[in-house]
Amino acid sequence: MVRVQIAIDGPAGAGKSSVAKEVAHRLGMTCLDTGAMYRAITLKALKEGIDLHNDKLLIKLVQNCNMKIEHNRQKGTLIYLDGEDVTDKIRSPQINENVSIVAKSPGLRKKLVFLQRELAEKSNGIVMEGRDIGTNVLVDADYKFFLSASLEERTRRRWLEMRDKGLNVNYKDLLKEIDQRDRIDQERAEAPLRAAPEALAIDTTDYTFEEVVETVLKTIRNEGC
Ligand code: DC
Repeated sequence: MVRVQIAIDGPAGAGKSSVAKEVAHRLGMTCLDTGAMYRAITLKALKEGIDLHNDKLLIKLVQNCNMKIEHNRQKGTLIYLDGEDVTDKIRSPQINENVSIVAKSPGLRKKLVFLQRELAEKSNGIVMEGRDIGTNVLVDADYKFFLSASLEERTRRRWLEMRDKGLNVNYKDLLKEIDQRDRIDQERAEAPLRAAPEALAIDTTDYTFEEVVETVLKTIRNEGC
């Protein structure tokens, strides 16, 4: 069976999750938001009060937790931790502030990358999005995209998203937090946020959601999916 793999990477707020979900939906494929996995571990680490910089403790934590991932056509990646659906809980400001620190842990990354590859193997085709999919998790992916947008535009989108959820955040604080998170993701030693050289870079600053989805689909169709 031919299992098509599509990798979408990019910084926070570039629209990766919604684009990946829609592309997967239109192609009848599974979609995986790998950031949700790092977020779920961050939730558990904060709950247990462990040192977020401690690689050994984070490995132990991931070894001792039961993480279940499901793909839902409407909602995208659903994530369960020790039997509890934490899909919404992992989007809190507290998780946003801490997830990049947790995602630096080499041991934790190794475990999660193993699970991500396993999910890709088991699927009948996957659209996987994150920071290191094209450069590390699925280096042989059939198609690679790198979505970006100006920091101001990415902050604006996140701010609107949070406002729609009833969260009242300050735009300037959010911009600072996203900027800091990007910097940690880009500067970490282990699988930093980078575009794979062969990835198609799409600056989505002036694009509508539909235009981005169409650009991705057109590229895939032109190259023959
Ligand atoms: O995409 P997101 O905002 O939900 O990702 C949350 C964090 O997880 C992000 O700041 C960096 C980390 N992450 C990562 O290091 N590697 C991935 N493949 C996905 C996310």
